[in-house]
Amino acid sequence: MRTQSLDNFCAWIEQTPLSQTIQVTAWSVPAVQTIHILAISAIMASVLMLNLRLLGVIGVDRSIAEVSARIRPVIWWTLPILLVSGVLLIVGEPVRSLENPIFQLKMLMLISVIVLTLAYQAPLNKNSKFWDGGGRRSITIKLISIVSLALWIAIVCAGRWIAYV
Ligand code: HEM
Repeated sequence: MRTQSLDNFCAWIEQTPLSQTIQVTAWSVPAVQTIHILAISAIMASVLMLNLRLLGVIGVDRSIAEVSARIRPVIWWTLPILLVSGVLLIVGEPVRSLENPIFQLKMLMLISVIVLTLAYQAPLNKNSKFWDGGGRRSITIKLISIVSLALWIAIVCAGRWIAYV
């Protein structure tokens, strides 16, 4: 999606002192990309562990609430690092990402997976055994974890793909 106001916004960002500094400092983009990639490793490792537990593949001797409480902080603390490093990459070259449909798709998927994660975590605050046990809830949480994993993997692919569109 490309609009006149988005063009103007990108042109304004390019003129800011922060953007100008990033544009003339050769090491800044690779340094920020490295931080972004390290944060991706942390979040994807946590997401994989959590979702494998939701699928009942690993750690079944611990409740979903227990595993979730251990892993969730890594996800929530890594997201701000991804946000800040991602915003710095945008500020350095706004048109490359903000006007890129793959970047827009990546942000949509990111918001969707955050909402999905908050939605299945919410019942655990009232009842820590909510997702444990068999029956319909067990199928629901497995389906949620498959959608969640698919979204996270698609977000990584989209992040890399931005450079080629
Ligand atoms: C939180 C908000 C985020 C923002 C604003 C953001 C923004 C960006 C930007 C602007 C780029 C540079 C794209 C380019 O110019 O080629 C990028 C790269 C990338 N992002 Fe993000 N991102 C965010 C979160 C994430 C998340 C959660 C993941 C995956 C778990 C992710 C995965 C990637 C990948 C794999 C790359 C390519 C890195 C490379 O090849 O150097 N990003 N991101």
